[in-house]
Amino acid sequence: MKRREFVNWVGFGVLASSLPVAIAACQSEDTASAPAEGDTATADAAPREDGFAAIGTVADLDAQGSLSDKTFQGEQVAVARNGEAIVAVNSLCTHQGCSVEWDGDASQFSCPCHGSKFNPDGSVAEGPATEPLPSYEAMIEGDQVLVKVG
Ligand code: FES
Repeated sequence: MKRREFVNWVGFGVLASSLPVAIAACQSEDTASAPAEGDTATADAAPREDGFAAIGTVADLDAQGSLSDKTFQGEQVAVARNGEAIVAVNSLCTHQGCSVEWDGDASQFSCPCHGSKFNPDGSVAEGPATEPLPSYEAMIEGDQVLVKVG
């Protein structure tokens, strides 16, 4: 093997072995801060001593009509304003696991997959789902929307 061939061979080896490391470094940085698909909440969900944690701001709730977070305290949570009340449910549809969405006009959570509808307290308003959505305590404090899932 000539000197030039050897240098080219070693150069290619260094490049080939470092490429996966460079790609992995870029991917871990990109995915670590990416919210789950469908999430609208942006607040950090560190719980307080009383168990409540911020899921978002009142401004976001009013602008978007609802807040959702698929990884809030280990649960999939949707929050909405129902008149003067703040309601929160586990947004995983009890029929087959799609994510329910708040329908402000009907004041119900509705499932886009098979049409189940749930009352603001999580009870079933219309099937095919037969089991209610678990509901959570929720309130507004200052400019934060707080939910207690525990
Ligand atoms: S998954 Fe919600 S109605 Fe079927």
